[in-house]
Amino acid sequence: MDNTIKLLKSLADPTRLRVMAMCRHGGDLTVSEIVRILGQSQPRVSRHLKLLTDAGALDRIPEGSWVFYRLGKQSGVTSVIDALLSNIPVDDSTLQRDQERLERVKSDRDQAASKYFSENAAAWNSLRALHIDQEQVNTAIAALGCKRPIRRLLDLGTGTGEMLRLFAPQIETGEGIDLSRDMLAVARSKLEEDNLDHCRVRQGDLYALPFPDDSFDTVVVHQVLHFVDDVASALNEAARVLVDGGQMLIADFAPHDIEDLRTTHQHRRLGFANNDFDEALRQSNLDVLTVQHLEGAHLTVTIWHARKSGVMPVKEAMA
Ligand SMILES: C[S@@+](CC[C@H](N)C(=O)[O-])C[C@H]1O[C@@H](n2cnc3c(N)ncnc32)[C@H](O)[C@@H]1O
Repeated sequence: MDNTIKLLKSLADPTRLRVMAMCRHGGDLTVSEIVRILGQSQPRVSRHLKLLTDAGALDRIPEGSWVFYRLGKQSGVTSVIDALLSNIPVDDSTLQRDQERLERVKSDRDQAASKYFSENAAAWNSLRALHIDQEQVNTAIAALGCKRPIRRLLDLGTGTGEMLRLFAPQIETGEGIDLSRDMLAVARSKLEEDNLDHCRVRQGDLYALPFPDDSFDTVVVHQVLHFVDDVASALNEAARVLVDGGQMLIADFAPHDIEDLRTTHQHRRLGFANNDFDEALRQSNLDVLTVQHLEGAHLTVTIWHARKSGVMPVKEAMA
């Protein structure tokens, strides 16, 4: 009951209700975007945001020097907000003006994201031409991943959120992690465009994931490991957040000799052999179930499907 009272108290203010209305329909918003929509000073807005965050009405997600705010994930927040907003006339002029400003903020953001995307599109298209059609890769990954129901999925190096969107219809919640803010901006736009409220992305490093142990039943690592310097540490960290019995899907290139990918696409590794991940996965208690190859014109895409067993290795169990 205490939590509910705290939540209701935090909402009993016109500015804070406006913030909740924009976060309900606006996805993740930065402080400066909220300042722009409200037309109030930053210190004042920050005070309101702190009260809402302390009450669990909003979640605060730091991302480098930026901070995003989104509707709190504690149960009941969405239904309380919806109930309160349904009591305000649809033609309320303040909320209508906020909505118009929110649309402008989103369209500016979309334009910046699509500018970045188009500036890099030529390079990505040239890479795609070297391997099999992405649709076929997606079909193969989804067929493996969806053999069992998925509740919580983590997409490492999510980029534009392609894997989140692929699995979205089959999962309860999806989280995407990426280092690149530009990629995340594209991912956010696409997730919002498709109304995928149950999927979220945030900036983070796959070597130090911002999640406790055993948080996910599925981890996807699609076309990321060839950028990474320490693949074993990356896989160990991915395995840490996977529950016993959870699955890991890794897609990357089979060994190749297209050295040019190092200079033009910053690849560190020229593909991986079938058993390259065996040792790292075994150390983290994962067994490779299948390895599948999809041959393209110049590059073969390999998909590794592994599962975490429930048995602790002897040395850890005794420690
Ligand atoms: C080729 S993109 C693949 C994106 C996505 N998985 C997909 O399938 O479309 C590789 C992504 O890995 C991200 N990345 C590379 N190193 C990372 C790290 N240490 N932590 C998080 N993301 C990383 C890059 O920013 C980039 O967005």
